[in-house]
Amino acid sequence: MTERRTAGAHWHDHLLFLGRFVRSPRTVGAIAPSSRRLAERMVDGLDWASARRVAELGPGTGIVTGAIARRLASGACCLAVDRDAAFVGRLHARWPQVECVAEGAEALAALGEARGLLPFDHIVSGLPFASLPAATTGLILDAIRDTLRIGGTFTTFQYVHAVRFRSASAFREAMTGRMGAAPTRQLVVGNLPPALVLRWRRAT
Ligand SMILES: C[S@@+](CC[C@H](N)C(=O)[O-])C[C@H]1O[C@@H](n2cnc3c(N)ncnc32)[C@H](O)[C@@H]1O
Repeated sequence: MTERRTAGAHWHDHLLFLGRFVRSPRTVGAIAPSSRRLAERMVDGLDWASARRVAELGPGTGIVTGAIARRLASGACCLAVDRDAAFVGRLHARWPQVECVAEGAEALAALGEARGLLPFDHIVSGLPFASLPAATTGLILDAIRDTLRIGGTFTTFQYVHAVRFRSASAFREAMTGRMGAAPTRQLVVGNLPPALVLRWRRAT
């Protein structure tokens, strides 16, 4: 897959991201996009040769979308879901091969079903679960569990400074309960702030 990238895209991304954060801090959840290093670690180690259906939740300006698109096998599909239409418009322009929709991730099951993409092999998320309402997080975790095939993976990250917060451990427990297995953890120091990549494989 090719990336349509113009000069200055990096700074456009940061300005767009910051502007959307100022407008809606709890929904965007960070003042800047993730680093390239974190984006790569989010998708490294997945079986890209056999993956046919992938979903990305909360792509923002697309740093992880690019890492996915570079690995997708021919004939494989990626559905990217972000509730902010300003981000989605930019993703469409940069990654025309990725199906981008401006919707809430709560609607993942309906979105995947309408496109014949269920069940997903892998779901990768940059959603700011730490700042989303608990009810929204619960709906999204249910949707992830319901749309992932057995043996499929769900990958997300938590900032290291917040890993011990009660809300962060409650999130991990909630996901482990749904997936039937604990996550693997990988520290990524090359991000501001450093982050822990968490990956669950659906066991039941
Ligand atoms: C922290 S940003 C992550 C962007 C990108 N993945 C990265 O790592 O740089 C979170 C993204 O989640 C999106 N978002 C927040 N709540 C959402 C929801 N309920 N459904 C879909 N997208 C949502 C925001 O619009 C934003 O683009």
